[in-house]
Amino acid sequence: MRSFCFAFLVVAAASWWPSAYADAPTNVSLPDLANSFWVDSGLKMPSKELVDAVNRAKLPVLDAFGHRREIILMSIGSEFAFQRLFDVFLSNLQNITFPGANGVQDNLARHVVVNVMTPGSAEKCNVLAAKYSCYCVSFANDAFTLGNFHVFSNDFYGIGFTKTATILDGLTLGVDVLFLDADQVFFRNPLPYLLAREADILVSGDCHNHGDATPMERLPPINNNIGFVYFRPTAMTTRAIYNWAMWLRNIARKGEKPWDQHTFAPAVEWVSSHVSVRHLSMAMLHSDLFPYFCMGPCGCDLRGVPYFHNGRLPARPRGADCDPDLMREWYNYHMPCAGDMNVKSNLMEEYVRMYLRVTGPINSRSAPMTVLS
Ligand SMILES: *[C@@H]1O[C@H](CO)[C@@H](O)[C@H](O)[C@H]1NC(C)=O
Ligand SMILES: *[C@@H]1O[C@H](CO)[C@@H](O)[C@H](O)[C@H]1NC(C)=O
Repeated sequence: MRSFCFAFLVVAAASWWPSAYADAPTNVSLPDLANSFWVDSGLKMPSKELVDAVNRAKLPVLDAFGHRREIILMSIGSEFAFQRLFDVFLSNLQNITFPGANGVQDNLARHVVVNVMTPGSAEKCNVLAAKYSCYCVSFANDAFTLGNFHVFSNDFYGIGFTKTATILDGLTLGVDVLFLDADQVFFRNPLPYLLAREADILVSGDCHNHGDATPMERLPPINNNIGFVYFRPTAMTTRAIYNWAMWLRNIARKGEKPWDQHTFAPAVEWVSSHVSVRHLSMAMLHSDLFPYFCMGPCGCDLRGVPYFHNGRLPARPRGADCDPDLMREWYNYHMPCAGDMNVKSNLMEEYVRMYLRVTGPINSRSAPMTVLS
């Protein structure tokens, strides 16, 4: 009995210790953290490593209007995220396959550029790059924790500086940027959907019935989620992201909390309201197609919901699956509001299994996409 208890404690401690050990947020000051992304003449320029990665990762495709576009998927990752989260994220993106220009099968993981936020994590990311043919770029800042980024810690706010700089670096290089948080899985290729829409910025958002085909000057008056956000590399989009980054820095310098999620809509709407929808346009993606965990476990049901009203958030009875008719339409499931990164990884795998059980193979409902050479 005694030895049994001892063994149990060791196992419990072993699974608890690694994250708890590195879990404390670093106590870097926010103004210092913000300043570390800037030099006297502005935001730091993209590194040569980033430029090379973008050039190799970019995917040339034909959009629904007959124009050539070059797209990259961008994400950011810290030490804790390389324990498990990125492996699930990338193995899922590898499942989203399509024929490449030369007829050879291609997949989305090969077009991902990951900015690595924590020093010493490059090697872990490179192991994944070898496995999935994605690209890892060092974007290390030693102010960041190696553990989970706790909501509303200084590290957490620092994600915004990394995210804005990452998006800006991609746009500055002239490619379309689909920025993805790594805590999501895909069931269908989202690119044909994005390439059939005209707005400069497309972002996911809360459960609400609105259109996403007409480019608008403002987003609907509900929460958006920048864990899935697509940008076209226009001059004005690039400027809007630069201004957003600068705003975050100014908030931090004043001693306040700069949250990228809260500032995103006002930042881009401020620009569009000055220059009009002709020069900067946006739309919020249909919430029933791009659901996330803050909505609940089964996404968003808009059937019979009047235009510009909130939708229903279906419950998931214990042991049951979500409604197959809703699941058939899902492009992805994103896991904010779901716990630490390892909890998220488990959920991502669980949603893949549910999709396989209820709907069919990952990618089986993807629309075709024309890849150019
Ligand atoms: C973090 O806290 C420790 C202990 O209070 C202190 O010695 C150290 O200077 C702090 N570091 C920063 C970057 O604020
Ligand atoms: C990838 O696809 C395979 C084959 O359908 C499936 O078994 C696996 O669970 C999928 N994994 C992810 C993470 O999508």
